[in-house]
Amino acid sequence: MSITYNEKNRSFKLTANNTCYMLQVVSYGYLAHVYFGKSLPDDDLTYLLRLDENPFTPETNDRDRASFMDTLPMEYPVFGLGDYREHAISIMDKNGASTCDLRYKSHKIYNGKPKLEGLPATFTNSDDEAQTLEVVMEDKPAGLEVTLVYTAFERLDVITRSVRVKNVGADNVKLTRIYSTCVEFNDDKMDMITLNGSWARERAMERCRLHHGKQLVDSMRGESSHQSNPFTALCSHNADEDSGEVYGFNFVYSGNFVSEAEVTQHKKTRYLMGINSCDFEWLLEPDECFTAPEVVMVYSDSGLGKMSRTFHDLYRNNLIRGEYKDKRRPILINNWEATYFDFNAEKLYQIAEQASKLGIEMLVMDDGWFGHRNADNSSLGDWFVNENKIEGGLKALVDRVNSLGMKFGIWFEPEMISPDSELYRAHPDWAIQVKGRELTLCREQYVLDYSRKDVRDYVYGMMKKILDSANIEYIKWDMNRQLTEVASNALPRERQRELWHRYVLGVYDLMDRLTTDYPHILLENCSGGGARFDPGMLYFSPQIWCSDDTDAVERLKIQYGTSMCYPCSAMGAHVSDCPNHTVGRSTPFTTRGHVAMVGTFGYELDVTKISQQDRDAIPAQIEEFNKYNTLVRTGDHYRIGNMFEDNMWDAWMFVAKDKSEALFEFVQVIGRPNERSRTIKLKGLDPDAYYFEEATPDKKLSGAALMQCGINIGGLWGDYQSKILHFVKA
Ligand code: DGJ
Repeated sequence: MSITYNEKNRSFKLTANNTCYMLQVVSYGYLAHVYFGKSLPDDDLTYLLRLDENPFTPETNDRDRASFMDTLPMEYPVFGLGDYREHAISIMDKNGASTCDLRYKSHKIYNGKPKLEGLPATFTNSDDEAQTLEVVMEDKPAGLEVTLVYTAFERLDVITRSVRVKNVGADNVKLTRIYSTCVEFNDDKMDMITLNGSWARERAMERCRLHHGKQLVDSMRGESSHQSNPFTALCSHNADEDSGEVYGFNFVYSGNFVSEAEVTQHKKTRYLMGINSCDFEWLLEPDECFTAPEVVMVYSDSGLGKMSRTFHDLYRNNLIRGEYKDKRRPILINNWEATYFDFNAEKLYQIAEQASKLGIEMLVMDDGWFGHRNADNSSLGDWFVNENKIEGGLKALVDRVNSLGMKFGIWFEPEMISPDSELYRAHPDWAIQVKGRELTLCREQYVLDYSRKDVRDYVYGMMKKILDSANIEYIKWDMNRQLTEVASNALPRERQRELWHRYVLGVYDLMDRLTTDYPHILLENCSGGGARFDPGMLYFSPQIWCSDDTDAVERLKIQYGTSMCYPCSAMGAHVSDCPNHTVGRSTPFTTRGHVAMVGTFGYELDVTKISQQDRDAIPAQIEEFNKYNTLVRTGDHYRIGNMFEDNMWDAWMFVAKDKSEALFEFVQVIGRPNERSRTIKLKGLDPDAYYFEEATPDKKLSGAALMQCGINIGGLWGDYQSKILHFVKA
């Protein structure tokens, strides 16, 4: 049993592989957090709560209950009762008061994992994969039941949490904050790792020491965002890739979030994650429920690398779905950087024709095929083919591309509306807007009100017509602006602040319909590059476009950060032309291939225009990708170099689960004069086995030697050079 209840001390113990998580019902029915970390044989660690220390002693010192409230490690802290640390829930009751008081009511433990109503979440493939604990807390005066839901995975160091709230009273209650997790650490000596950035430089890893007070990353942009990712790791100061304690948190949500750590007066750390409560409210009428999205919590006793591999395993097996979950993805060529808006059917066909000869398997027609869109200033919402560009119609083009033996994919931006569109002229009220205020443009577009079913139905109807009109096997779902003037023409005054969340639920609803109705279509999410690279999106699409920056060197950083919690198999990565469109850098074609090979792999260039030398390199590059793709998709990923610490080089590995083979990739970012060869220690191999590098089958070395002594990398001439080595068990 991975979850047990000890009746004597009213404590719960959740065991997830080698991780243990404990909570306990204490005086007055409050729920305390006891422990989260490496597995322990004990099931009574109550002394950690310090319930006997004055002046915080409950019962014997009830005259100072506020001190008790302010020091007890709370499992799900409320606002208004004397716990002055950051809270997880606050409400507005029928009288307008914010105080909430949650006491234990009941609990149940069962096999498997429940679905979350309307929300993406991790799942079990069979009931014996995990156990779930539901602890029901109640606030009697407010008439609320708050169910804390925990799932412990049997073979992974993963515990997930979510929260369900039900109005069981007779009066309306508003939720003004409803976070999904709170964990208390008996420690303030921790670092906080976050993934931050901007357009074209997403998910750069940043590491800071925690200090007294509150520190957070968040998004109020209506999406998880380029600027911050809903991921945080808290770790010991000495934690590195391979050692030290690490706690990873990742929010299965694609909208506004907060990820916050607070070091409190007694040098402890409280960590919380959930929907951002800024401009958030949710009205619960009697009998109504609200579900807060899931947080995935991973514990590692062996550094960041193990944390990442746990996330990767979980997401590959228990989050990503659909036909392409465990499949090699088709090698695609996308026309965005090749043509931008300047294309027609003939141009696309020429690209496809040339690409098919080189072994590329799918043509993706990007932005600009619909309405009268020839720049980014019109037609979003008019999802019908522009026959001036796609002469003869979509079916004719798709058939021609198919006749080359290639698949066909298409771009949509379903959440958007251009002021210059037939849709906007017919339904200006469908844009998210504040009545009487000017709408703020971003990329010359507005955002559709996805809280409205009529809006979603209409857009979906348009998309369906396109999808049913030709043999379309891939969709790139883009989202190129963030939200402003967030109000809906369809919601009553008291529900306006629900729009941020209702918008995200609407997006999920449409993605759910799309993936249900078209299970064979490969869906790739995208948001102005990688602004929605989050687990919520991964649930619907097995791959997400990492960034609009396709430069191989910039990608080293972006993909490094992304790999903190997201599997490489999900990273949309393409070989593009040089000088690179975003940074103007020229890197060797081989290096671009090696870096894109870490992800889904494809091309983003005009294959009819690149040099003959680059064109000639494509078939061998594809062969290399095919050779290693299973290893990349299913193996364990090890980060070896760190672009953040040393811009000179980067390296990483993929090791087969049975340790029978390993792929080592190295990039020399900057060449140096008079350097000896660089010794690099490999990781993840079987120390007792012998391995040879494929090119030198006679030279065998033990896994122990390869890991303890390393290999020498030398002979690379110039900047941005790369090398791959394939080690096979002898
Ligand atoms: C942003 C995406 O990241 C690009 O790849 C491209 O699809 C453009 N949008 C098209 O507008």
